[in-house]
Amino acid sequence: MGEQVLRSLPIQPAGTPLVDLDGVTVRRGGAVVLRDLSLRIRRGRVTALVGRSGVGKTTLLGVLNGLIRPVAGTVTVAGVGVLDDPAALARHRERTATVFQDHALIDRLSALDNVLLGLADTRHPLSPLPWPAAQRRQAAEALDAVGLLAHAGTRTAHLSGGERQRVGIARALVRHPDLLLGDEPFASVDPALVAHLGRTVRRAVESRGITVVLVLHQIETAVALADHIVGLADGRVVYDGPAGGFDTAARAAVFGARPTLVD
Ligand SMILES: Nc1ncnc2c1ncn2[C@@H]1O[C@H](COP(=O)(O)OP(=O)(O)OP(=O)(O)O)[C@@H](O)[C@H]1O
Ligand SMILES: [Mg+2]
Repeated sequence: MGEQVLRSLPIQPAGTPLVDLDGVTVRRGGAVVLRDLSLRIRRGRVTALVGRSGVGKTTLLGVLNGLIRPVAGTVTVAGVGVLDDPAALARHRERTATVFQDHALIDRLSALDNVLLGLADTRHPLSPLPWPAAQRRQAAEALDAVGLLAHAGTRTAHLSGGERQRVGIARALVRHPDLLLGDEPFASVDPALVAHLGRTVRRAVESRGITVVLVLHQIETAVALADHIVGLADGRVVYDGPAGGFDTAARAAVFGARPTLVD
C-alpha cells in the first residue's frame, strides 16, 4: 500500500523543500515546549536536531511525523498538503518511518518479526497468514544492513541494548520511507557501528533520495553525519545551517557556555 504510493510519486531533486513548519507552537503538559517555530526540512538531506535534554527534540520529531498536533501554526508536506487534513496526514504517515528513542520493540518476537512490523500497514492487522517470502526477504535485507542478519531468529528480549536499537533502525528502513526520523538512534551503539550505520543511512539517502532527520546527542556524530544542523534552545530554533558551520558560537547558543556538560 505505502510502497505503491511511494512509487507513484515523482522523484524531486535533492534540496527542494519537503516539510515546512510555519509558526508552530506546541504545548505539552500545559507548558509551551515549541514556540512560534518555523523550519524547512529539505529533501535528500540528513538534518541533525540538537539541543539540551528536555528542550523539545522528541516533540519536534513528533510534529514532523504528525503524531503531535501543534496548537498554532501549520506543517506542510510537499506533494501531500497541510497535515491538519486527515487525508494528508494519513498519506504523510505512510511515507514516513520513525526510529523511537525507546526502540518500541515487542520483546517476545524475533528480530525478523519485529522488523516485519514495519510493514504491518501493508496487510490486514489480524491476518493469520505467515508473511510472504518477498517481505521476509525485504526484512532480512534490512537486518543485514544494520549487521544483524545472524540474529534474525533471536527474540529481541535476548538482544543487547545496541542490538535492539539496530532492530528499531531496520524496522524503519524496511518501509523504504520517503522521510526517515530517528530519535537518538545510535545512543547505545559503539563508535565503529555508528560509522557503519551512518554509511547505511547515507547510502539510502544517495540511492533512494530519502530525507533524514536525526536527533543526535553527540555533537561530533551530528557534525560527521549530517549535512545540516538545527539547534533548539528555549523552544526556538537558534541554529539552522550547514553542519560545517556549527562552530563554537553556534554550540554556545544551543547548549550555553559549557557544551561538554549537557546530555
Ligand atoms: N507526554 C508528555 N506530557 C507532558 N509533558 C511532556 C510529555 N513529553 C514531554 N514532555 C515535556 O516536554 C518537554 C520537551 O520534551 P522532549 O521529550 O521533546 O525533550 P527532548 O529534547 O527530546 O529531551 P531528551 O534529550 O531528554 O530526550 C519537556 O519539558 C518534557 O517534560
Ligand atoms: Mg528526546
